[in-house]
Amino acid sequence: MENEISRICVMGLGYIGLPTSALLANRGFQVHGVDVNPKTVDIISQGRIHIVEPELDTFVRAAVESGNLKASLLPAEADVFVLAVPTPFHHGSGDTPRPNIDYVLEATRAIVPYVREGNIVILESTSPVGTTDQVAKVLRAGGIDTDRVHVAHCPERVLPGQIMRELIENDRVVGGVTPEATRATAAFYRRFVAGEVLETDARTAEMAKLTENSCRDVQIAFANELSLICDRMGIDVWELIRLANRHPRINILQPGVGVGGHCIAVDPWFIVDSDPENSRMIRKAREINLGKTEWVIGRIRDEAAKLGKAKPVVALMGLAFKPDIDDLRESPAVHIAETLKDDDRLELLFVEPNLREHVRFALTPADEAVRQADLVVYLVRHKIFKGMQVSAPVLDFCGVLQP
Ligand SMILES: NC(=O)c1ccc[n+]([C@@H]2O[C@H](COP(=O)([O-])OP(=O)(O)OC[C@H]3O[C@@H](n4cnc5c(N)ncnc54)[C@H](O)[C@@H]3O)[C@@H](O)[C@H]2O)c1
Repeated sequence: MENEISRICVMGLGYIGLPTSALLANRGFQVHGVDVNPKTVDIISQGRIHIVEPELDTFVRAAVESGNLKASLLPAEADVFVLAVPTPFHHGSGDTPRPNIDYVLEATRAIVPYVREGNIVILESTSPVGTTDQVAKVLRAGGIDTDRVHVAHCPERVLPGQIMRELIENDRVVGGVTPEATRATAAFYRRFVAGEVLETDARTAEMAKLTENSCRDVQIAFANELSLICDRMGIDVWELIRLANRHPRINILQPGVGVGGHCIAVDPWFIVDSDPENSRMIRKAREINLGKTEWVIGRIRDEAAKLGKAKPVVALMGLAFKPDIDDLRESPAVHIAETLKDDDRLELLFVEPNLREHVRFALTPADEAVRQADLVVYLVRHKIFKGMQVSAPVLDFCGVLQP
């Protein structure tokens, strides 16, 4: 059946859905891309892009010009449906943020009138365990026989900045709600993925993605915890980690001001929410990484107070959630800047060389900020900060001064 696949309907044209659509269109599939945002549909229809990602503009332009990629507000009939909509969390009344799968369910309801026997419906969004079953349930409620329509999960693992390459090269995990769905979906991915396509069931595939990001979170929490212990003991944490990592089987990550981004800082909560009783280390890691950000805020306040100036000028160097990108989503550096902004004992300079402007922070060029500052605080290890001449005292939370 998979040899007959030619039409793909992609729900959600963001960081995942648009590159996927453009790649498939350039491989000769007829792609019908759907987004609820009319501005997004309008821009893509003109062959342009609304997000920053290397090479994506070339792919989208070629895809639209060839006629293989069409953007629309409404779904259409297809052989394969790909759901690539957001799965954020929301802070409810309890102490664990809860996953919100409303966008997934909404997008599934939207495709119901277009799904036919033999079609494949793939959930690519990062999802709590059981979401793919929920997708199947919504389809069944719409009168679709899910023994005759293949429903599967295939989590996306691409790294922003390298999406076009990683979409092809990464290994993929595919898990269907039935073995037949797994087989059919895996065969589809093998048509354009050069990496290995690994087959499992839907729940394991969902958990695999959450596990990957939780593992990173736990490892970063270890480094962040070490940084606090070393600070109290008067030990240089950077040197310590360098030395420990010379052990042949040790690989400690680098500490920082917390963990940001829309994946590692979000996905572990999906596991904690599913099994709070057993996810003790995963929750603790989240708490340690969040706590590190609050600790940094306290340190900045303390060091600024020690300068003995009425209103010292503090340069906050970096706002992005990791080095050398312009993405501020869930960025701990932004949280630090937001919190200190209201402190009238400080005069703050905000520096983010990867952005031209920001709606809430008036940005200062890095060299100017460093010249004016009474205290220079490195929040993000941007390459551009390395080797700058600084005469003011420095707080380096992310290793800019390290070799
Ligand atoms: N961005 C990444 O690097 C990345 C990596 C791995 C996994 N993911 C996961 O992929 C999923 C999508 O993430 P993203 O970064 O592409 O999000 P995004 O916000 O960039 O894009 C999602 C798009 O879906 C649209 N949308 C919302 N509801 C819709 C609906 N009912 N029908 C059609 N379109 C709808 C939105 O308007 C938006 O354009 C998430 O689950 C995310 O966790 C993202």
